[in-house]
Amino acid sequence: RHSLRQRIYEINRIAARWFYRNLRELPIAENARRYLDKRGLSRKVQDSFGLGYAPDGWEGLLKHLKEKGFEVEDIFQAGLISERKGQSGHYDRFRSRIIFPILDAQGRVTAFGGRITGEGEPKYLNSPETPVFHKGRMLYGLNWAAKTIRAEDRVVIVEGYMDVIAAHQFGAFNTVASLGTAFTPEQGKLLMRFSKNISIAYDSDTAGAKATMRGLDILQSLGAKVRVGQLPEGMDPDDYLRRKGIDEFQRLVATEALSLIEYKLALAMKEYDIGSIEGRVAIVNFLVPDLARLKSAVEREEYIRLVAERLDLSPEAVQTEIRLHSRNSE
Ligand code: CTP
Ligand code: MN
Ligand code: MN
Ligand code: MN
Ligand code: MN
Repeated sequence: RHSLRQRIYEINRIAARWFYRNLRELPIAENARRYLDKRGLSRKVQDSFGLGYAPDGWEGLLKHLKEKGFEVEDIFQAGLISERKGQSGHYDRFRSRIIFPILDAQGRVTAFGGRITGEGEPKYLNSPETPVFHKGRMLYGLNWAAKTIRAEDRVVIVEGYMDVIAAHQFGAFNTVASLGTAFTPEQGKLLMRFSKNISIAYDSDTAGAKATMRGLDILQSLGAKVRVGQLPEGMDPDDYLRRKGIDEFQRLVATEALSLIEYKLALAMKEYDIGSIEGRVAIVNFLVPDLARLKSAVEREEYIRLVAERLDLSPEAVQTEIRLHSRNSE
């Protein structure tokens, strides 16, 4: 008899095949097929990511898995069904959704994400935490991206399913997603087994900016060489790739990606009033911990010069603030 984890992997594999076949074959999935076409996903990329469809109805998958000989309790442990409230029995977790199988680095199906094709909440529904799925330790797309990440020694991290799929369709094969904006140290460590050169390209909105900051700090403290691909306001990598193409995307996330200090400086210059002394002092103080942390004297001097120049201050004034900071935090 296999372990629970092994049984869950097997259940997930069979479920992924069922979802996949639904998307390709069910008349009722026409809506979903049209949706994916309209969003520009090639048939090839839909297939390589194993996209599927969960039809409406309460126990299509449950029935199918029972027919295949799996125990209800194991299907429940896999996160594919929920318990009925106030009565016995279970129903399918994913209904009327496009399904994104979530594979781990070894190519095992660990979980699923499901997107609605119309309006409604939540836009995405994911598997719950299970014995084989811990969202905070998973990177979507890693199994497809691993080889290229190693070969190019650079990885691009994005937020979502659609961003990863667009990146792969356009040829940016070194792209993975954190599945939302809650980037964790575990994801950082996993990523760094493949490359230490990491570009963050999160959605250019408030949540994305906050998460970028968090990701920068986490990755920096893990010792990564981290940069930011700053997208135009309101766009995500999927939008950007489809509007501007692969060359502009690569420029943004690689050649022209911002360093931590450049990114924070740009952010602070938007947030504070650079016309006032107070605003400029606030920006310097915001940047001082990161400037002080730079170990290379050459690098530090270079950034001090950059900050001073942008804020129309003398490098000496910035230097003094760093010294005060270092003394205070001793
Ligand atoms: N996400 C989630 N649950 C939600 C919303 C988002 O798990 N209710 C995760 C998904 O992995 C999603 C990612 O966060 O892909 C980014 O969310 P968002 O930017 O809102 O979605 P997109 O990936 O841009 O999807 P789409 O383009 O289809 O709107
Ligand atoms: Mn069946
Ligand atoms: Mn967003
Ligand atoms: Mn997005
Ligand atoms: Mn999007």
